[in-house]
Amino acid sequence: MRIESLARPSVLSQPVYQPGKPIDYVARELGLDPAGIIKLASNENTFGPSPRAIEAATKALSQGALYPDGGCYELRRRLASFHGLGPDQFVVGNGSNELIELLGHVFLGPGDEVVMATPAFVVYKLVTLLFGAKPVEVPLRDWTHDLPAMAAAVTSRTKLVCVCSPNNPTGTANSGEELEAFIRAMPDHVVVVIDEAYAEYLENPPDLKPIIREGKHLICLRTFSKIYGLAALRVGYGYASPELCALLERVRQPFNVNAIAQVAALAALDDGDFAERCRRANAEGMAAVELALSGLGIEFVRSKANFLLSKVGDGDTCFSRMQQIGIIIRPMASYGLNDWVRITIGEAKANGALVEGLRAWFWTASIAAKEGPNRWRQGDRPSG
Ligand SMILES: Cc1ncc(COP(=O)(O)O)c(C=O)c1O
Repeated sequence: MRIESLARPSVLSQPVYQPGKPIDYVARELGLDPAGIIKLASNENTFGPSPRAIEAATKALSQGALYPDGGCYELRRRLASFHGLGPDQFVVGNGSNELIELLGHVFLGPGDEVVMATPAFVVYKLVTLLFGAKPVEVPLRDWTHDLPAMAAAVTSRTKLVCVCSPNNPTGTANSGEELEAFIRAMPDHVVVVIDEAYAEYLENPPDLKPIIREGKHLICLRTFSKIYGLAALRVGYGYASPELCALLERVRQPFNVNAIAQVAALAALDDGDFAERCRRANAEGMAAVELALSGLGIEFVRSKANFLLSKVGDGDTCFSRMQQIGIIIRPMASYGLNDWVRITIGEAKANGALVEGLRAWFWTASIAAKEGPNRWRQGDRPSG
């Protein structure tokens, strides 16, 4: 008997998540020096973690023989004072990805529907399918979540509605007023999930806590992987009513967030200056890259996050081309955007290298267009 015949059917049809390529992987594949590779593929903070988080994590290693506090007591207390909610209104996960999965464990089964935008963060769809539920995908409007259309897609079978703001991969955000009206209009059998992974990059992030305090079925998801620069440590959190958090607590693994991640997250929260410097540096980098792309005649979607969706022609080929010169970006074909790539905004030097790489790509692509397909594959690379 083949092992696959023993698996749940939804596992066999499950699409596989395509992550941004790790630096070491690309270095091995292309024989490049990893030190020279620039990764702008996964919306990480290229400024790294706060030095205070590094110090706290390093110290915590000496306690590595002990299991962590599975309930994340200190971190939840700190988050509570940070956000002005109770500690029982937080659930901490192994990245916010895990929280999306926990929502699936609690709420989803065959016959249920999840309303989400397309393109939006792909994990909502993956988790929906994994639990045998049905994704109901509502196209973006002007690259932004079309909240009225999403509301219209809700049925008696809808369990979750996922809104990503700012949205990955477009970087667009819905206003606080829009989100509030949308959440208030949701029927009681629906749990609204607002994914705020990039909220810290907004100058004035919407404050949805009053709606949580009113007892609406709402959970907001945040992560330490983006502005706090702790993607490797895997820590994210959700805030919601104590009842909703208690349900998620029931289905998590006992020690889902490691001790190093917990103390690093605490220290990162305490270093608000570092986060604010990263936010400002990102805004400056974004303005510089937008200006350069405009100069090159490259179309892009105006972004409020730390990445930019750019129309470069053939996204897959542009990605390979950039990789050959040591710059990892993200092709968007898996999101149905064949002509687009998503690029993370980095430090000034990385941004400069990215723009030069794209300039070279366009130069080559325009020659290829003049001289016929596959011209660029013959290996004559312009210096840029
Ligand atoms: C919109 C969005 N939500 C959630 C995540 C998951 O973040 P993590 O699991 O690292 O906390 C990401 C990661 O890229 C994201 O873009």
